Amino acid sequence: MSQKEMSAKVEPFAAVKGMNDILPPDSARWEWLEDKVRSLMGLYAYRNIRTPIVEPTALFERGTGQSTDIVEKEMYSFEDKLNGESLTLRPENTPGVVRAAIEHNLTYAGGQRLYYMGPMFRHERPQRGRYRQFYQLGAEALGFSGPAVDVEMMLLVHELFANLGLRNVRIELNSLGLPVERQAHRVALITYFEQQLELLDSEAQRRLHTNPLRILDTKNPAMQALVQQAPQLLNYLGDASLAHFDTVKTLLSSCGVRWSVNPRLVRGLDYYSHTVFEFLTDELGAQGALCGGGRYDGLFELLGGKPTPAVGWGMGLERVLELIKTQGQGSRVLVPDAYAVIADASAMAVALQTLQALRAAGVSVQMHAGGAAALGSMKSQFKKADISGARYALIFGPDELAQNAVTVKSLRDGSGAQVIQSLADVASWAPTLQSRT
Ligand code: HAM
Repeated sequence: MSQKEMSAKVEPFAAVKGMNDILPPDSARWEWLEDKVRSLMGLYAYRNIRTPIVEPTALFERGTGQSTDIVEKEMYSFEDKLNGESLTLRPENTPGVVRAAIEHNLTYAGGQRLYYMGPMFRHERPQRGRYRQFYQLGAEALGFSGPAVDVEMMLLVHELFANLGLRNVRIELNSLGLPVERQAHRVALITYFEQQLELLDSEAQRRLHTNPLRILDTKNPAMQALVQQAPQLLNYLGDASLAHFDTVKTLLSSCGVRWSVNPRLVRGLDYYSHTVFEFLTDELGAQGALCGGGRYDGLFELLGGKPTPAVGWGMGLERVLELIKTQGQGSRVLVPDAYAVIADASAMAVALQTLQALRAAGVSVQMHAGGAAALGSMKSQFKKADISGARYALIFGPDELAQNAVTVKSLRDGSGAQVIQSLADVASWAPTLQSRT
């Protein structure tokens, strides 16, 4: 780079389109949500799994499916410079979890219940609720074939939404049966659509022979009548598949969970069989799918493992947080209990020691930090205490120092009340400052 180029004014950088910074105070909401998730997962005995963000491209081509939108057009893939292998930023994590389960033989001694939280990447057109990097919470139960686990999976989501105070979330269910049942339905579907080719849009014509089931998912208003009349997969299911589906519905109802069957719910990924479901809201515009999942009994074998039944879901955390905000639950901002106002450098050692003692007693304290030369006037420090949202100011001034004490000033109740507290027994008055349990 030439000297001239080096000294040219640098344009500030911006985040990649569709990828967001999560900043305070919003990040406090994320942490609050993540804490809720972790404690609920503990109650359901689901354990955390962390897999790499980068996986071989072939894993998604085979697992997610060649004819899905994800694999056809949304993956961030690149070549490993050393060996030329094609790698991909994970667009979803079910294939990654199954890869890890096979690689480490996780189900050798029975089933595994797992969950993960982390970023996923899809090259979609960004809009509200749809991003190119987004966070998913996912749960996968591996090695259980009965309908009860499908229900447990949905209860988990239902309970999480209840814990978060969310309202008006509905559950749609469908069954995609077994591959052979889908094959018979596929033939009928292709025949039906072939007879009405002129009514299919270009997307549907393209999908007719690769993934006709997805045509049922179309949002095109001009095709709604056509897909309404199309052969329904539920009519092609055998007795065992219907019995599985019926048990899921009955058990959900017995747990007081409301659901409706949407025979056109097909999900956008290729690995599903039997139960599929989505949790939806009408309050977020076009991106109303909060959570989607289902059974994927064939995926282990498809990825080179032993036959292993499995069921799971993924949830878009940006969408969940957006709904929390929309429904007025979003005022949760973390603020410190106290802000330490420090008169000058001679009080610093005492202040630092006192703050450590307060934190050890569970009080959250923000220390005033000034410039290299001076801490700033008391007035400016009080301004910062106010901005911090803290309920108390702790004043370390010369008078206090002389008495081995600190003044605790109330900032939020309008009283401005002040009490002098002794530094000899911090633990005895610390609980009066604490707002957390
Ligand atoms: P999915 O339906 O593709 O399923 O994604 C699950 C959820 O992730 C969606 O319901 C939505 O809330 C969120 N989501 C998807 N794409 C975006 C985006 N571009 N921006 C923001 N949020 C998004 C799966 O990914 C499967 N792995 C779920 C699963 C797990 N099935 C079985 N196990």
